[in-house]
Amino acid sequence: MKNTDKFYITTAIDYINAKPHIGHAYEKVASDVLARHYAANIGRDKVRFLTGTDEHGAKIAKAAETDGRPLEDFARETAAKFSFAWDQLNIEPDRFIRTTDADHIATVQSLLVTIKENGFLYEGEYEGLYCTACETFYTETDATDHICPIHKTVLELLKEKNWFLKVNELSQQIKPKIASGEFVIWPISAAHEITSWLNQGFKDIAISRPNVKWGIPLPWDKDQTVYVWVDALINYITGAKDGDKNWWPANVHVVGKDIAKFHCIIWPAILLAAGLELPKQVVVHGYLTIGGQKMSKSVGNVIDPNDWVAKYGADAVRYLLMREVAFGQDGDVSEEKLRTRYTGELANGLGNLVSRITTLVENYLGGEVVVDTIDEQNSESNEIHTLIQQFAFHDALAKIWVWVAWANKTVDEKKLWELAKTDLEDFRKTAAGILGALEIIAKELRPFMPETAEKILIAVTAKKITKAEPLFPRIG
Ligand code: MSP
Repeated sequence: MKNTDKFYITTAIDYINAKPHIGHAYEKVASDVLARHYAANIGRDKVRFLTGTDEHGAKIAKAAETDGRPLEDFARETAAKFSFAWDQLNIEPDRFIRTTDADHIATVQSLLVTIKENGFLYEGEYEGLYCTACETFYTETDATDHICPIHKTVLELLKEKNWFLKVNELSQQIKPKIASGEFVIWPISAAHEITSWLNQGFKDIAISRPNVKWGIPLPWDKDQTVYVWVDALINYITGAKDGDKNWWPANVHVVGKDIAKFHCIIWPAILLAAGLELPKQVVVHGYLTIGGQKMSKSVGNVIDPNDWVAKYGADAVRYLLMREVAFGQDGDVSEEKLRTRYTGELANGLGNLVSRITTLVENYLGGEVVVDTIDEQNSESNEIHTLIQQFAFHDALAKIWVWVAWANKTVDEKKLWELAKTDLEDFRKTAAGILGALEIIAKELRPFMPETAEKILIAVTAKKITKAEPLFPRIG
């Protein structure tokens, strides 16, 4: 990483109209892996990790109404479901921001005043199509038949007075920044898509809504509230403030591909209008799918992360999410796949290795062995660090499992349980090597599987090694 001074990472903030699903969890786990990785490499105090909930707008107001509960209560309770789920998954943000937080409301209002003073807002009339489920304005070209391309519902025909942001004019400045590498969009296919959008010319957008009560009032026009997407994007600026410190610009915004346009065109336009720096990078991930279909509340195929964590543990779920799908692409997940990886790579692979070697060392060496500590700065560790920094989480894990397989193979081929009886010195040397490898495996696994990594480190670095508890017990 070029900018080694600090690492400020954010995720999309989730809508609270429903409870969290595995698709939401996926993005949070990946961001947590990055945050933990950088914390280990540049120092915990140099990393800031922000996540949270997107709570305003017509969509949430409707959900609360359907639920028959006061908006504030509904928002608080649903937001808590997200922070609870992240807690269960050992996702540890420095701040869990809610767009209803007082400091966020103040930040949004003052930022919009600045943008207005800078001359980038004007009053106008919007006549067109809107999807509340997306909280997005559509043009006739996006939706010729007036059907939402995402939700397949009939779009609402709106005619209303709004304040507009001069996105068309501002967006001219974005393309050269993408081309020069000042503003990076990953993967390259997403960058190409954004550039092609920019080439077509991007329309100005409404930044306020006249008939949406559940939102942040525009300071100079109390009849209007801030358009929920503008409100939500600004969370990254609110969350950058940390006592006397300001972490802006973000090093990485991690977002799904459905909201790349908001982050790569509208968000930069807002920042440019406010005279702020652009984020260094937007990282766009794909969808988790079930039988090829995007997991979403509207499709009704959601998996509750708490169910999987309760059954398989946080680390196994983190492992599946990071191992199963190449970041940046779509990929199918299922409990079947989780179970297969759990019994295979986790229980029979890593778990078995740890229990076999610790048992043998306890039985034949009285638990005492000088571990062959391998320098963590070796080239293979560096390769893993590079893979993580390039968001190739699945490749990083696959590489770690090459070491697991090597260690298991060594135990088998050298028949360590026999070697211990025939050639204790050779046994001691081999065991020391395997324990050293396990120490490296555990260190490299830390960002992905923090609990498991700690358990392994404790087991293999003990003064007197004893048979380790199974890391991945049999699931009933
Ligand atoms: N509230 C907006 C984001 C505002 S960010 C300033 C939003 N919320 S969301 O709840 O619909 O989605 C939150 C994140 O979860 C998005 O990045 C979205 O792409 C991601 N995912 C939602 N479903 C997903 C899958 N099935 N798979 C992977 N990611 C998914 O958009």
